Parts: sequence; C-alpha cells; structure tokens
Amino acid sequence: MRKFAVLILLALLVMACNLTQAVQPNRNDASNTQVVQSSSVLEQEQVESTQIDPTDTPASQSTTLTPPAAESSPTPTQELMQVGQPGSDGLGDPYYPQLGNGGYDALHYTIDLVVDVESNTITGTATISIQAVQNLSTFNLDFSGFEISQVLIDDVAANYKRQGDELTIIPPESLWNGETFTATIAYSGEPEPIRSKALPIRMGWTHFDAGIYVASEPDGAASWYPVNDHPLDKATYTLRVTVPEPYVVAANGLLEDKIKNEDNTTYVWESINPMASYLVTVDIAEFIIQTEEGPNGLPIRNFFPPELADDAAFDFGRTLEMIDFFSEVFGPYPFEAYGAVIADFPAALETQTLSLFGYQHVSGTRESENVVAHELAHQWFGDSVSLAKWRDIWLNEGFATYAEWLWLEHIEGADALANNVDRIYGFVSERGMRPPGNPPASNLFNGSVYIRGALTLHALRLTVGDEAFFEILRTYPQRYHYGNATTADFIAVAEEVSGQDLDELFQSWLYEEAVPELPPSE
Ligand code: TRP
Ligand code: ZN
Repeated sequence: MRKFAVLILLALLVMACNLTQAVQPNRNDASNTQVVQSSSVLEQEQVESTQIDPTDTPASQSTTLTPPAAESSPTPTQELMQVGQPGSDGLGDPYYPQLGNGGYDALHYTIDLVVDVESNTITGTATISIQAVQNLSTFNLDFSGFEISQVLIDDVAANYKRQGDELTIIPPESLWNGETFTATIAYSGEPEPIRSKALPIRMGWTHFDAGIYVASEPDGAASWYPVNDHPLDKATYTLRVTVPEPYVVAANGLLEDKIKNEDNTTYVWESINPMASYLVTVDIAEFIIQTEEGPNGLPIRNFFPPELADDAAFDFGRTLEMIDFFSEVFGPYPFEAYGAVIADFPAALETQTLSLFGYQHVSGTRESENVVAHELAHQWFGDSVSLAKWRDIWLNEGFATYAEWLWLEHIEGADALANNVDRIYGFVSERGMRPPGNPPASNLFNGSVYIRGALTLHALRLTVGDEAFFEILRTYPQRYHYGNATTADFIAVAEEVSGQDLDELFQSWLYEEAVPELPPSE
C-alpha cells in the first residue's frame, strides 16, 4: 500500500535527519583528517610496540617476574625485554583508530552500579575478566570521566594513568600471553555524555526527565564503564544496578535476581551471549512491564512508561509475528530474550535483546511499525553478526532497512514491495546518493547506508533470484553468529551460495558514486 511505503520513506528520512540534525552538528570532526590520521597512528603504534620505555616499568616488576617454566632462563637484559609490552591504545579501526585496545580479550564484564537517579550520580565497580593475548606490561581501557578510587589486578592494587579517554593500567606483575586475570575498577561521579566522532548526538549514559537511558553506538560506552570499546571484542555481561524506589531497571539479557534492600532495589541482569559494548544498555524509569512468550518459550519483556503503556502495547503488538517471520527468513532468533524499552530519546537503537525506542515511536496507530521491525532485524544483523570495522556499517543498516521491506512484502504482498522499491529507487537515482560502502567517518549513519544499502540487497536479489537470495540471508548470520564479519565476508557468502561472480555488482552499488541501474525484475 502507498501509505505504508510513504511512511517508510518518511521514517527513513526522519531517522537520517534525527541522527544528523536533531542535535548540534559537530563541525569540528573532519572525517578526512581522521582517515589520514588512522594510518599514521597505526604506523606509530607499530614502531612504539617494538620499543620498551624503561621509565614506564614499575621498579617492582623486574624483581617479581616469574616467566613460564618452558621459557629458557633469560639474561638480565633479556629479562627486561620480556616483561611484556604495552597493549596498544586502539584497535586500529580504519575510521576510529583509538576505539578499543590491543593485547587482550575481555571475556566478561560485571558492572555493579549504585545509581542516584535524581542527581544522576553513580558509584560503580567494574570487574572484568580478561585474557592476555600478548605479554603485557600495561594495558588500556576506554573510559571517560569519573573519579577512580581503586584499581586491582587479581585483588592486588595496581597503578594506573589517565589521558583523555584512555585508562592505562599498570599491573603489579607482567601478564603473560594466554593468562586470564581480573581487573577491578572502582569509580564514582556524574557520567558525562560523550561527543561522538561518528554523529552529532549525545552518546552513552543519558539523564532525562523521567530517568536514565544508555545508547552508545558507536563510541558512547566509555561514558559509563571502563571497556574495550570496539565490536571486535565482544563479551558477556552481568549488570547489577541498584536504584531507589520507585525506579525500575531494564537491561540486556535475563533478570536473574531482584534484591530488595532496605531503601533500594538491586536488579541483576545477565547476558549469556557475547555482546558488543555499544549494545549494552541500562534504562531506569518508572516502567510498566509487559511480558509475552515468543517461539520456543522466548521471553519477551517490554518496559513502557505508564502514560504510554496502552498505546505502546498496540504499537509493539506485532513483535511475536515479526520474530516468527524473521526467524523463518534469517534463521532462529539468536538470543535468550527480546523486548522494547521506551525513553525520551531522539531515535531508536538495537540494544541487544532489548531495543530502545524514543517516545516519538509511540503513536497508538503503529505508525512506526517499520522501525519496530528494523530494530528487531538488527538482532541478527549487527548484534549477533557484528561489524569488524565501522566502515562496513551498511551491513547493519542496509540489512535492517531491507528487513523492513521484507516485512512490508510479508504483510502487504509483492506489489507493495515493488511499489516501495520503485518509489525509493526513483528518489535515489534522481537526486543521487553517495555510495554506502565508505561513508564519511563523521557522518557514519547517513541516509545512504540505510537506503542505498537496502537497494544493494534488492539488486542482489534481482541478480541471483529469490531462492539463492534467501539462502544467502540465512547462511550469512548462521556462519557468523556471535562473531564479526566484513563486507568481503558477505560477498563471499553471496558468491558461494549463488555460484555467481558478484564483484562488479557490489563494487558499483557499494563503492561507486553513480547510482547503478536496478537489474530487471522478472
Ligand atoms: N543503529 C540505529 C538504527 O537502528 C541508529 C543509531 C546509530 C543510533 N547510533 C545511534 C541511534 C545512537 C541512537 C543513538 O538506525
Ligand atoms: Zn538501524
């Protein structure tokens, strides 16, 4: 139907506008400088990592060192060389090289927060289980703001340094490649939203009239806990959050415990599947909780503001149908739970197992049904299969947008999809639209990664036919679930399943300025 298609287009534009205009544009971010910088930072790191700065090594280290038995006993100079090297202070993402850190793999985060909701202050302890992937003399976490009161490595006090958003921990003894250890960071203060490098929106922990929400894509997680902030290092999470009456805490995963203390309540949320840091959310308000049961007993829990609960119940009322449909098309729903949480927030975000929606998506008329479908589809594309580098963002947004179109086709039929594609392709080809494969680093979520990204998938569908196309849509999340993938990985799946050489198709749709012709439909 026309109306639905127009709504989708409008919603997409609003989404793009929301993300680019609703908040103060960040004119200082020069994407070109960043990209140029990235290679020099990487080179610099490589040079640095081959050198050891003896002044960086605490005096105690050389005396307490116990190399693994298998290693031949070193001469004193070699011993200095073998105390390990600093883990890098960035993971070298081509767009945001400082995000994340090298030299280790975070396995599990236990984030314990006591929150004074009214004053928006946190007393927190992050207990992170970490495995070293090199011999480490020091390692970094991304962390912004707060007072740190203590840092422990395996229960022993450790020194640390802070510089900008980098927290460098100096363990009392070197950490050996392969060793698993625990880092504990105790902190307190008022979280400050992060100025994202990717879009002009307040990122991370955000206080609003009725409570608190957390939305961090791509670089806001460090605003509330110390983290290896890049989707390449996914981990499991325990979120223990204590709030005063009458607040309720919603977060990712399953509510394992709710402990009533004298004058507050502790909510313990457990995520058993690996999660990218930007998908971690804690949402605090006076919610009404609505539950349902999805396929195979999948728990659905929705957190609605009381005044919006009736309308929201209707707006989100097709979630089960959508899960059934997407499970058929993309393979089984990947996580232990799903639901929606609603806050005063200028967009929508696919926070894992619990998508976050702004008030504007509640209408009582299912006006935002496409957005509801979009965030759900991200659970497969973005959350279960995550990016290996932010430049490939079309793998998230193009797929979630195409999922909206598939939902439209499912409920309204093939003609509705065809009309929708005609309308959107007409708009894109007339007006022109930059290629989605290398978006500007300072405007990562521009309309192209959504719209031209989705059209790329439609062009693929028209090229390989429905049978191969849907086989590709199932194979890709099945192969990369709970992990990371690149555009090249997706193209390889598409070529393998279809038996066709698709390089030119993807090259023209993803990377060339001119909007390609859509292949003819039968
Ligand atoms: N991924 C969001 C979507 O589904 C868009 C988005 C990116 C976003 N970064 C954000 C939304 C930060 C809110 C806050 O389209
Ligand atoms: Zn999206």
